Amino acid sequence: MPERGATKSSSDCTSLYRDGMEAGSTVIVGGTAGIGLRLAETYAARGHAVVITGRDEQRCGTAAESIAGEHPVRACTFDLGSPELIALALQSVGAVDRLVLGAVERDENSVSSYDMARALRLVTLKLVGYTEVIHALAPRLTPHASIVLFGGLAMRRPYPGSTTVSTVNGGVTGLVHTLAVELAPIRVNAIHPGIVGDSPYWADKPPAVLEAVRARTPLGRLVTMDEIVDAAIFLLDNGAVNGINLDVDGGWLLT
Ligand SMILES: NC(=O)c1ccc[n+]([C@@H]2O[C@H](COP(=O)([O-])OP(=O)(O)OC[C@H]3O[C@@H](n4cnc5c(N)ncnc54)[C@H](OP(=O)(O)O)[C@@H]3O)[C@@H](O)[C@H]2O)c1
Repeated sequence: MPERGATKSSSDCTSLYRDGMEAGSTVIVGGTAGIGLRLAETYAARGHAVVITGRDEQRCGTAAESIAGEHPVRACTFDLGSPELIALALQSVGAVDRLVLGAVERDENSVSSYDMARALRLVTLKLVGYTEVIHALAPRLTPHASIVLFGGLAMRRPYPGSTTVSTVNGGVTGLVHTLAVELAPIRVNAIHPGIVGDSPYWADKPPAVLEAVRARTPLGRLVTMDEIVDAAIFLLDNGAVNGINLDVDGGWLLT
């Protein structure tokens, strides 16, 4: 692993790849926490230049500083919930080889107690916001670039309160199909994780919830962050995989 001291963070994306590097960067939207952060750490440790994004400048800078790598990890701050501001925030990002869209704000919604503001927030984030990031960066995607979107399995395995999440997961699935065609030859895929048992989101949830899913998973355990990262890297870096919505759930959907 590279020395931690080799890293440096900045909330300013301007100097990205202006220092003689030929390859584009790996941009991870939602890279300050959870799976996105683990993916950023993995690519940085492999010597890639990485940009992470989040909503808060200080949190994003701190996360970037915490990542060890050969090249400085850059921090870039914007809120996917304000898509009209995204292009400006990304203005100074240079060439991009890999683009990961993983940010999420959780929503619990049902028709009987419909919270339109919460629903609009998640729809904006994952559908309009994700698409606007791709729109803004499209001219900077290298010809061999690839994109991975994060969805989830609530589309096919709904639960009480998943109305917006299920809808948005379906939207991500559709986005992959249209973008893989529209952006060709740039590859576009999505990963749909099952319950990622060791992800921070689940850390303080009742163990019974996780146990119920584990008991139903043919693998006999929940999937892990490292396994999701490994699958995301496969989608990003395998030159033949395109237009795929990949379930990584240990077989949960089969039962
Ligand atoms: N964890 C699971 O079990 C699971 C299961 C199925 C699907 N997934 C999907 O996998 C992806 C990663 O999940 P995770 O659990 O690792 O996420 P997480 O730990 O909750 O991290 C969410 C990330 O999104 C960023 N973010 C949140 N709201 C944002 C906004 N409005 N604008 C820009 N960035 C925003 C956060 O950054 P800041 O807080 O710094 O702004 C953070 O970096 C998500 O898309 C999720 O839907 C996860």
